[in-house]
Amino acid sequence: MANTEHQQYGPTDIKGSVLDLIGNTPLLALDRIWPGPGRILAKCEFLNPAGSIKDRSAYSMLKYAKEEGRLKPGAPIIEVTSGNQGCGIAFVGAVMGHPVTLTMSAGNSPQRAEMMVGFGARCDRVPQVEGKPGNVTLADVDAATAAAQKIIDSTPDIFYVNQFNNPNNCRAHEEATGPEIYRQTGGRIDAYVATLGTAGSFVGTSRYLKRQNPAIKCVVVEPAGAEVIAGKEVTKPLHLLQGSGYGKVPELFDYEVMDEAMNVTDEEAVEYKKLLGSKEGLYLGYTSGANVAAAVKLLKSGKLPPDAWVVTLLNDTGLKYSELHK
Ligand SMILES: Cc1ncc(COP(=O)(O)O)c(C=O)c1O
Repeated sequence: MANTEHQQYGPTDIKGSVLDLIGNTPLLALDRIWPGPGRILAKCEFLNPAGSIKDRSAYSMLKYAKEEGRLKPGAPIIEVTSGNQGCGIAFVGAVMGHPVTLTMSAGNSPQRAEMMVGFGARCDRVPQVEGKPGNVTLADVDAATAAAQKIIDSTPDIFYVNQFNNPNNCRAHEEATGPEIYRQTGGRIDAYVATLGTAGSFVGTSRYLKRQNPAIKCVVVEPAGAEVIAGKEVTKPLHLLQGSGYGKVPELFDYEVMDEAMNVTDEEAVEYKKLLGSKEGLYLGYTSGANVAAAVKLLKSGKLPPDAWVVTLLNDTGLKYSELHK
């Protein structure tokens, strides 16, 4: 039938673009892994459009760069990435109408590069100088940064996102992730625990939560042997927590919002990655396993009230990893 003015339609529910699908992720109780007392409540960041928490910072950094005039219409964009940030930048750049180049250590999984290419971006995989596939070190990230710098130097008007030094990275979480968590728990949160890559998600979320209630315990999760926030010497730069634990205090980190740091071993991260699959039906990456392992350790530590609610992040989907690495 023709669309006439007499036709009656119901209310619509249509998103204008994939950008409207970023954030507002559900908060899920992991009651099968931790039946109590207390609760682990996990933010389903793997449900973001490109499968990770970094979609939030990608949009925030590009949106504000455009508003602030640092990203010109149609100008090229470049970023150094361990994969997740690059996937986010690639799809947000595509929708905003910018050509995107990513440099990434070849030690990060090829699935990430494939996704970036799927969004029409270019991904240069930079050979590793120190680590091995699945274990990416600071020196490997530095090599990917040097490769990006060469492109930046020879490309006029290119916008370098620079997630490690960009305050609009934290802002995504201070403006959205933190408020979402506070609203979803009705303000009942005893602790928030999370790994650090750039520290954008930890710092932005903790800043908001601490402003609502300074008693919320904000706990950093670090790979055992690469505990720089805890002030320890790095004895194990190679670990499985891809996208986090680079063996250096991130530029965006803020000790003011942290109460304590905990460590998680590769074995613990793998154990909880597997339990997330077999008990909760969630196929996720290693930092999600690490976050849940840390939440369990914190609940067992006796440092919180017995019925404490601990919030953490399920950072990305397991589909971003090569199981063949191990
Ligand atoms: C899998 C994974 N987990 C955690 C993080 C940490 O996020 P942030 O950079 O906000 O500290 C990242 C960052 O890339 C990541 O890729």
